[in-house]
Amino acid sequence: TNTIIIAIDGYSSTGKSTVAKQLAKELGYVYVDTGAMYRAVTLYAMENDFVSVSDFNKEALIAALPEIEVRFEVNPMTGLGEIILNGTNREQEIRGLNVARHVSTIAAVPEVRKKLVELQQKMGERKGIVMDGRDIGTVVFPEAELKLFMTATAKDRAERRYKELIERGEEVTYEDVLKNVVNRDHLDSTRKDSPLRQADDAIVIDNSNLTLKEQFDKILAIAQDHL
Ligand code: C5P
Repeated sequence: TNTIIIAIDGYSSTGKSTVAKQLAKELGYVYVDTGAMYRAVTLYAMENDFVSVSDFNKEALIAALPEIEVRFEVNPMTGLGEIILNGTNREQEIRGLNVARHVSTIAAVPEVRKKLVELQQKMGERKGIVMDGRDIGTVVFPEAELKLFMTATAKDRAERRYKELIERGEEVTYEDVLKNVVNRDHLDSTRKDSPLRQADDAIVIDNSNLTLKEQFDKILAIAQDHL
């Protein structure tokens, strides 16, 4: 069998990362969550007051980009990569709704994308990787051997995110989460640089009505066909 690149794109909270993690484990591949990288840059921008609810100092962020170091480190307990921002593990902080509120603004900046896409391409140099995001099949790895595009209704997606945030102890309302999911999808699909769109050769997976097990079995069968 071949060692390949598997690109998984789609709207927010469609379960991309759940599937990607399972698939990587099953195939013995590396899993890379590119959303975590955009979230880390966003956390940096928030902590340095480059972005707030009312304004965004894009020039200051661009000027600071060389100072931002983003990488993953495997947690030996889980076997999963966790995000390291300038030497500190920030895996917990990047998952909050506050970061989610600003991330699509930060991710629309071409200079930010250029920096992160280069890192992502390096991570995939030796293949054997499952990468999830918004532009993996279209921009990061247009030559990926397998591209999946995941969708689900906004309601299903908001419910998934809401549960995750509540389990993490965040005090959020379902309405806030739904608003965030819809807003991010809109910003991500309408930005000029690398908008979220389905690659022409992607296989579409609508998981609105699939259990996790059904979804995984379906995707594993597709993946095995491409090895
Ligand atoms: O995947 P996740 O929901 O964590 O991604 C957070 C945000 O990061 C997305 O809403 C999008 O704005 C941005 N993103 C992106 N390109 C990627 C991955 C994420 O623009 N490849």
